[in-house]
Amino acid sequence: MKKTIEDYELEGKKVIIRVDFNVPIKNGTIQDDSRIQKSLPTINYAVKNQAKVILLSHLGRVKTEEDLAKNNLKIVAEHLSKIFNQPILFSSVTRGKELEDDVASLENGQVLLVQNTRYEDLEGKKESTNDKNLASYWASLGDIFINDAFATAHRAHASNVGIGALLPNGVGFLMEKELNYLKKLEDAKRPFVAILGGSKVSDKIGVIENLVLKCDKILIGGAMAFTFLKAEGKEVGKSLVDSENLAFCERMLKIAREKIVLPIDAHVSCEMTEASPSRIVDFSSIEQEEQAFDLGPETIKLYQEQLESANTIFWNGPLGVVEIEKYQVATEEILDYLTKLQKEVILGGGDIASAAKHLGFEEKVTYISTGGGATLEYLEGKELPGLKVITDK
Ligand code: 3PG
Repeated sequence: MKKTIEDYELEGKKVIIRVDFNVPIKNGTIQDDSRIQKSLPTINYAVKNQAKVILLSHLGRVKTEEDLAKNNLKIVAEHLSKIFNQPILFSSVTRGKELEDDVASLENGQVLLVQNTRYEDLEGKKESTNDKNLASYWASLGDIFINDAFATAHRAHASNVGIGALLPNGVGFLMEKELNYLKKLEDAKRPFVAILGGSKVSDKIGVIENLVLKCDKILIGGAMAFTFLKAEGKEVGKSLVDSENLAFCERMLKIAREKIVLPIDAHVSCEMTEASPSRIVDFSSIEQEEQAFDLGPETIKLYQEQLESANTIFWNGPLGVVEIEKYQVATEEILDYLTKLQKEVILGGGDIASAAKHLGFEEKVTYISTGGGATLEYLEGKELPGLKVITDK
C-alpha cells in the first residue's frame, strides 16, 4: 500500500499536487472537465487542512512556439476559480521569479496553479525526459509531493517521477480510487468479459495478450474487429485493416479462439458520412467498395448474450464510429443493456469515456477511469513509474 495525502500533517506546508488537467479544449472552451472535477477531493482536502497548495499539470504536447498559446493552462485556472467561487492564483511561467513570488505569497488554504509543465519541453524536452535540474527546482518549491495524476502515471516525467523522488510523498484520492477499481479486475468476479473496440490493433497488443489470459471472453468491436476477421480469412470489403498486425491477430486466434468473439454482421457504407446510403450486411455479402462503420444487429444480439452472465466487464474503445449518429448504435445499445442489468462495468480510455458521457451513461456505469494510456499499461501488467516512485506504507 502506498502512502497517501492523509498520512501527512498539511497545515502551513507547501504541498505540490500533480494533477492531470490534460482536458480537451476547443475554440477556447473546455469540452469535458471530468478530470478537473475528479481531482477536487484531493485539492479540497489540502485546502481544508490549511496547506499552501501548488498544482502542477501538463496540457497537450508542446513542440513548437505555437503550441505554447494553444496549451496555456490559464483557461483551467479560470475554470477552477469558477468551481471554487474564488480566484485561484495562476503562475504564467514554469520557473523564475514570478513563480517563486507566487509560491512565497501563498497563504494557508490558498491554491496556485502553475503553467503547463510541458512548456519545459520546448527546449530540450526537460519535463518529458525527467530532467534532474528541473525536478530539483520544482521540488525546491514544496515540502510534500502528492501524485493524483493517475492518467499520467505511465509517464516518467520531471513533474511526477522527478519531484516524487525528492520529496516526502503520497498518492491523492483519485489515484487511490482508480487503483482500487483496476485492482478489482485482477481478482474479478467471474465470468469476466472484456469489450475491446477502437481502431488500431497496435495500440492494444499488450492489453489483448494480457486479457486473453485473465478474461473468460473478449468481445472485439471497432475497426480492430476487421483485422481479426481478415486474419480469419473473412471478406471485410474496404474496412480498415491494420495489416501490420494481421500476424498478431492470427496468433491470438490460434491460442484463444474459444475466448475471442468476433462480429457476424455490420453496418456498412461506401463513405463515412451520416448522409451516405448504408446497409446491414453479414460478412459473406459485403461488397469490395463497402466499409464497416458499426456492428450489425445480429452481432449486438450475440454480444448481449455473451454479456448476460458476466459479473465483471472491462470496456475499452467504442464499437463503431460514434462521432456519426447512425454508427453509435452498437455502443449505445450495449451500454444500455449492461446498465439496465446493473452489471459491474468499468470503462477505461478517453474514447469510450467520452462516448458514454455523450450518450448519457456517465452516471449509470460503475466506474469511468480518467486514464487512457495509463489504464491500458496497468492492464498490460506494466509497472506505472508515477506510482512506483511513491513510498510504500
Ligand atoms: C492522457 O491524456 O492520456 C494523459 O494526460 C497523458 O498524456 P500524453 O499521452 O500526452 O502523455
